[in-house]
Amino acid sequence: MALVTTTEMFAKAYNGGYAIGAFNVNNMEIVQGITEAAGELKSPVILQVSKGAREYANPVYLRKLVEAAVENYPDIPIALHLDHGDSFETCKACIDGGFTSVMIDKSGESFEKNIEITRQVVEYAHERGVVVEAELGTLAGIEDEVKVAADAASYTRPEEVQEFVERTGCDSLAIAIGTSHGAYKFKPEQCTVNEKGILVPPPLRFDVLEECMKRLPGFPIVLHGSSSVPQDFVKMVNQYGGSMPNAVGVPEEQLRKASQLAVCKINIDSDIRIAMTAVIRQYLAENPSHFDPRQYLKPARKAVKDMVAHKIVNVLGSDGKA
Ligand code: G3H
Ligand code: 13P
Ligand code: ZN
Repeated sequence: MALVTTTEMFAKAYNGGYAIGAFNVNNMEIVQGITEAAGELKSPVILQVSKGAREYANPVYLRKLVEAAVENYPDIPIALHLDHGDSFETCKACIDGGFTSVMIDKSGESFEKNIEITRQVVEYAHERGVVVEAELGTLAGIEDEVKVAADAASYTRPEEVQEFVERTGCDSLAIAIGTSHGAYKFKPEQCTVNEKGILVPPPLRFDVLEECMKRLPGFPIVLHGSSSVPQDFVKMVNQYGGSMPNAVGVPEEQLRKASQLAVCKINIDSDIRIAMTAVIRQYLAENPSHFDPRQYLKPARKAVKDMVAHKIVNVLGSDGKA
């Protein structure tokens, strides 16, 4: 199977009450870990590339790595998606370069400006068989390329979504319901502390999601910032020389619930980063004389695979849906 768009994946996910995982890729081990898990579990998958990933790895390398994955796993649908496209030009470069899906993220602009640029991308993309994700509402976050201060974030306004989708013609819509990018999604003062001393974040705004669903029946919704920041891996990072105090993510049960509703695409990057870093830190601490990168990248790749397999089965529910 060649690379596919997300159209069929999302229609099936919407009707089947599950979601497709969109995992960020930056290098070979990440591409391999994700697609090994998806291949073995017969799950559709979205491999997404951020602006930072394009700068880090060079767009050609990333595209060729994804092509290799498609060749290795011909039986599962794989989409190649631009994550947080910042301009028409970046989207155009990816569309021209073989991506099957792009995100244009003008959520930081006015409603009208967001519509204008999204519409421009949609026209260019649709003429070439590529689908477009847009965003309304602003997520807080501290990722390199996605810097939004917590106080600048705002939930999506359900009363705007129908007009936005109609006027832009976008194929899916990312909304802000309380998730955010990175490993520090909530300040400790926003959380309660459970009996094990673990920070419990405020719940996602399912009321906002449900209002959006009512206004956009059958339309695929996307959740960014959906890492759960697993505390066992955070502990491992800290145990082996790292420092990630008060790292906290979105509880997996809430994402599972969202995937049973209109959420068809769930973006996960930080959990993969944390798992790789934890395993590499542990490996190097326990094997101080080793210096062959393959020795620590092998368990890191396995950690990516295990993390993605866990998400597919326990959070997304997309196993067996290829
Ligand atoms: O949403 C942001 C993704 O986690 C990508 O992060 O811009 O550091 O590649 P990045
Ligand atoms: P996390 O930082 O929660 O993994 O979110 C990733 C994301 O939204 C990529 O677009
Ligand atoms: Zn994102």
